[in-house]
Amino acid sequence: KALRKAVIAGNWKMNKNRQEAATLIGELKEKVAGAGCDVVICVPYTNLETALSNTNGSNIKVGAENCHWAKSGAFTGEVSADMLAEMGVQYVIIGHSERRQYFGETDVTVQQRVRAALDAGLTVILCVGEMLEQREQGVTSELVAMQTKIALGGVSEEEMARIIIAYEPVWAIGTGRTATAEQANEVCKLIRDTIASLYSQKVADATTIQYGGSMNAGNAADLLAQPDVDGGLIGGASLKAPDFAAIVEAAS
Ligand code: G3P
Repeated sequence: KALRKAVIAGNWKMNKNRQEAATLIGELKEKVAGAGCDVVICVPYTNLETALSNTNGSNIKVGAENCHWAKSGAFTGEVSADMLAEMGVQYVIIGHSERRQYFGETDVTVQQRVRAALDAGLTVILCVGEMLEQREQGVTSELVAMQTKIALGGVSEEEMARIIIAYEPVWAIGTGRTATAEQANEVCKLIRDTIASLYSQKVADATTIQYGGSMNAGNAADLLAQPDVDGGLIGGASLKAPDFAAIVEAAS
């Protein structure tokens, strides 16, 4: 665990107008200034400019919530990884379950988006995780290993330094029902073992693996104390500065 950096990332999803974004960042900046972990906020495209300028000079890094796989072209409504990189964005979430569920993203398009993001120089927060039915059916391990393997297809050992994996059980997202610390660790460990089988134990030991799904100020310390949980991807609790700062504190 000492080999890797803890990363706490907020995923604002489709929340916050420009004014609200500026206010939240203003509060957050002071609260996380002394953080002992990496702090990232992933915001809607419309807030990227505000987030970049308002975090300037602080320890908060900025990410987007998705990117397209093509560099440019006839893809109405989409934004490319190159466009994000050109703005100064450093991180991008790819394969979030909400993208898979509501926007038809598949393991294959997730792989393509990961490729584009890496080529653009971005750091990827790659999301994997099972739905409740799949957990109940007992296929969590196979499914998460497969999602991980397909998404990392074509990613070099060197590029793994710019891959963060977020294990987000779909049944724990926005439900207030968090995975137990043991459940979270079990799957984060499985992801690490999958990376070891694809690359090496050294690469696996250096890869940051986050847990996401109803992580909050109250349960963060317990989850982050697990040997294979290296950080968190935070939805709801990232929208309030005191809550997000408390999670950052727990990871520091
Ligand atoms: O990407 C973070 C996320 O899906 C978790 O959301 O609201 O359960 O923390 P939430």
